[in-house]
Amino acid sequence: MFGKRIEKLASLIKDSKKIADIGTDHGYLIIEALLEGKTLKAQAIDNKKMPLLRAKENIVSFGLEKKVSFSLSSGLDDLDEDVDHIVMSGLGGSLIISLLEEHLDKITNQTLILQANRNCAELRSFLSENSFKIEYEKVIFDDKYYEIIVTKKINEKIKLTEKEILFGPYNLKHPNNVFYNYLDDEYARYEKIKYPSKQILHKKSLIKDILDKKDCKH
Ligand SMILES: C[S@@+](CC[C@H](N)C(=O)[O-])C[C@H]1O[C@@H](n2cnc3c(N)ncnc32)[C@H](O)[C@@H]1O
Repeated sequence: MFGKRIEKLASLIKDSKKIADIGTDHGYLIIEALLEGKTLKAQAIDNKKMPLLRAKENIVSFGLEKKVSFSLSSGLDDLDEDVDHIVMSGLGGSLIISLLEEHLDKITNQTLILQANRNCAELRSFLSENSFKIEYEKVIFDDKYYEIIVTKKINEKIKLTEKEILFGPYNLKHPNNVFYNYLDDEYARYEKIKYPSKQILHKKSLIKDILDKKDCKH
């Protein structure tokens, strides 16, 4: 109802009693999750009045307001203790990192569904350094490419390779056509750079390596 990105994010919620949507804005994720029976209740969090009001209006228009609490607060500051899934989507990777970092103590058993608009590699690096295991990833195309990460805190150190940090450990193990198209487009974008930096050249060679292996499989 609200597009492929929101649908995919909601579909990743499993056996939930209560989700928290951090940076809820329009509240679409919550509406989709409740209507699809993905969760029983939701906490809508936004640190700005107008977006939170917008979420409330939309949620009321679907008659779902009894199932949702609204919190005008930043990140996980006001996170309810009974939340089992935390969604952070449409935010920058650096913001997601700082919001998680502020309240690492509050993250225990919850499943985190993260979709950063940029800096996905930095986000993966932060997750591995803080013992978050990436359980699932998906690259989707919804007018543009979006990377989605599902992760959970575990009591083990996690070491990711450079390739895994850049492109995602699950994406690399379970590549699909959208992932390969995404890499093709990235490669083409780098090709257009007249004077590429060493970093870009290195990333290009890693992408080529992945795409060459794909061609070998076919
Ligand atoms: C681009 S919208 C993303 C909306 C929605 N999550 C989505 O995926 O479409 C970002 C929202 O995050 C909110 N936001 C930004 N910083 C925040 C913070 N520190 N805590 C909570 N919400 C925040 C903004 O007010 C805005 O409503």
